[in-house]
Amino acid sequence: MRDGMRAPAPGAASRGTAARAVAAVLGAGCTLDEAFANLPGEPLPEADRAQARALAFGALRWHHRHRALIARLSDRPLPRNERLLEALLSVGLFQLHDARQPDYASVSATVEAARWLGRPRAAGFVNATLRRMQREGEALRAAVLADETARWSQPAWLIERLRQDWPAQYAAVLEASLCPPPLWLRVNTQRTTVADYLAALEAAGMQGTTLAGVPTAVKLATPVPVAAIPGFAAGAVSVQDAASQWPAVLLAPAPGMRVLDACAAPGGKCAHLLEQAGGTLDLTALDIDAARLARVGENLTRLGLTAHLRVADAGQPGSWWDGVPFDRILLDAPCSATGVIRRHPDIKWLRRASDIASLAARQLELLDRLWPLLRPGGRLLYVTCSLLRAENDAVLERFRAGHPEAALVPATVPDWLLPVPGGGWQALPGTSDTDGLYYVLMARQGG
Ligand SMILES: C[S@@+](CC[C@H](N)C(=O)[O-])C[C@H]1O[C@@H](n2cnc3c(N)ncnc32)[C@H](O)[C@@H]1O
Repeated sequence: MRDGMRAPAPGAASRGTAARAVAAVLGAGCTLDEAFANLPGEPLPEADRAQARALAFGALRWHHRHRALIARLSDRPLPRNERLLEALLSVGLFQLHDARQPDYASVSATVEAARWLGRPRAAGFVNATLRRMQREGEALRAAVLADETARWSQPAWLIERLRQDWPAQYAAVLEASLCPPPLWLRVNTQRTTVADYLAALEAAGMQGTTLAGVPTAVKLATPVPVAAIPGFAAGAVSVQDAASQWPAVLLAPAPGMRVLDACAAPGGKCAHLLEQAGGTLDLTALDIDAARLARVGENLTRLGLTAHLRVADAGQPGSWWDGVPFDRILLDAPCSATGVIRRHPDIKWLRRASDIASLAARQLELLDRLWPLLRPGGRLLYVTCSLLRAENDAVLERFRAGHPEAALVPATVPDWLLPVPGGGWQALPGTSDTDGLYYVLMARQGG
């Protein structure tokens, strides 16, 4: 620090950093992870970095509502290019929800963050806006809740589509999307049993619960950082949502089978398939993104598992397939990710209504291109983490119209999965504290 400069007030750097990340999502359209990876300046100490991430995720989760509040709290509308100030106010408003910290401390750290960000002239405005929220918050909140976008903190187009697709469930889905996500683990039954792992958790002063139908899933009562998860480093467990553990149960490849995981990164489902079959699958894991595929390799190494990893476009089998058919194919397709919004609140800002038709076209194309790689009698599982029927059973319907040999495979499913009228099953956030995924299993008939 140079002579004469004030030391930054405690908490200013984490608030300022959170605001920068949120502003990057709102303004530059990058993901929160990309925003944090590309922040300018010296990296923060670990504790501040963790706090900045928590604040940025929280602010973005509520930002549609915060934007409506900010409009009522400030005498003049913020200029459209004032993303950083808007983001900082959102971080400040998010902290005012948090009962663990006194409001005065939240306000003063956010005001100091304006200075830390090099915006000392905005400090008075930030102070006045947040103090007004303290005084008039209840009435202002009630006023903005009349608007659905502010009430659910979701874009209007998505609320409308969810209402159309899930008329009986959409309110619970929207409510669940506002909650911080739980921490689900997948127990590696090659290394331990669920009963032994639950006992190990208890011995460590932690608690876990299980979920019907997913024999490997354990939810921690209180999320902790990965480094604090008992048995993680030794490969006894991996972090994976319970709904993401259902595909391996449904596809159930027998040991020795030739399996394709067509969109594999970061590798959760791929590792689960291998663990479930005792590591004995002849499994090819593809991903189009080399950096993401490298994470599959890291995950498999931690777990002592192996697969053939290929950076390739699943939609261009001519460039990577050796011509030997697969017994099982998992297509966990790129999608809108509307089922994982509580984990990735930036999706609400990055996704547009106009994306859905092109995603559905891409999903259908991948299904069409991969289907001929399945041996007769083989099975393909199509999965998305989308809640939108346009990407799920509507894609299925179009696919099956061109493939009469594709038969739906029935299954006994747990009651937290909803049968979708057009075929397949849907996990909805808000039902059993899982992410929202769609699944349909098809068999290739004929010789
Ligand atoms: C939903 S994620 C897969 C998650 C993964 N199955 C898991 O359980 O960890 C979709 C993946 O598809 C990849 N992808 C997108 N288009 C692809 C393509 N044409 N060929 C192969 N991979 C693709 C993306 O890079 C992304 O990693």
